[in-house]
Amino acid sequence: MRVVIGYASAHRSTASIAERIAERLRDLGHAVDLESFDELASVDSYDCLILGSAVHNGQWLPAAEEAVDNLLIHDALRDKYVWTFSVSSVGETSSLLSPRLAQLLRRHIPEPIAFALLHNLSDIQGHRSFAGAIAPGQWSGLGNIVFRLMGGRYGNATDHADIDRWALRIANALAVHRSA
Ligand SMILES: Cc1cc2nc3c(=O)[nH]c(=O)nc-3n(C[C@H](O)[C@H](O)[C@H](O)COP(=O)(O)O)c2cc1C
Repeated sequence: MRVVIGYASAHRSTASIAERIAERLRDLGHAVDLESFDELASVDSYDCLILGSAVHNGQWLPAAEEAVDNLLIHDALRDKYVWTFSVSSVGETSSLLSPRLAQLLRRHIPEPIAFALLHNLSDIQGHRSFAGAIAPGQWSGLGNIVFRLMGGRYGNATDHADIDRWALRIANALAVHRSA
């Protein structure tokens, strides 16, 4: 099956996660293209789409929002296998924030609008939230203060084992579909 991973990343941590998913799927025998949403012209030739974005100010990045709008307007997801992922301060298994706050936020943070639209209007196979990375200087002054108050620590909180497990889950689902 032909797979494309489309992603939007402002500071590369989402790009690295997308690259890792691509590598794992290739290791497992799938043909995978990796494209930032700015470069992804058409999804017609793919069977499986994995769409992801960094989260800024509670939302997917504008390039991802635009790509989702276009895919939905053109009904381009019909008959495709679609998975989605978000990269933010709080992932399902790791976080840039304090563990206690992360646990609370996992239950209460509203979903980004583009992601919610996609999940309401299309048949999505699954979603995963990953924690990304942040360096001093990427937040504004106020953002930095809020981040510190939330127990935030600069660095990379990506859980690579969790990415690998998720990629394996997708590969297994594709294998089942291929043999059906
Ligand atoms: C301007 C800015 C806004 C952010 N807003 C949020 C947010 O609303 N929620 C959150 O959990 N993380 C937020 N983050 C953290 C990013 O989601 C995190 O650093 C992610 O790894 C960024 O991915 P990227 O490196 O691909 O851009 C923000 C980071 C920046 C720089």
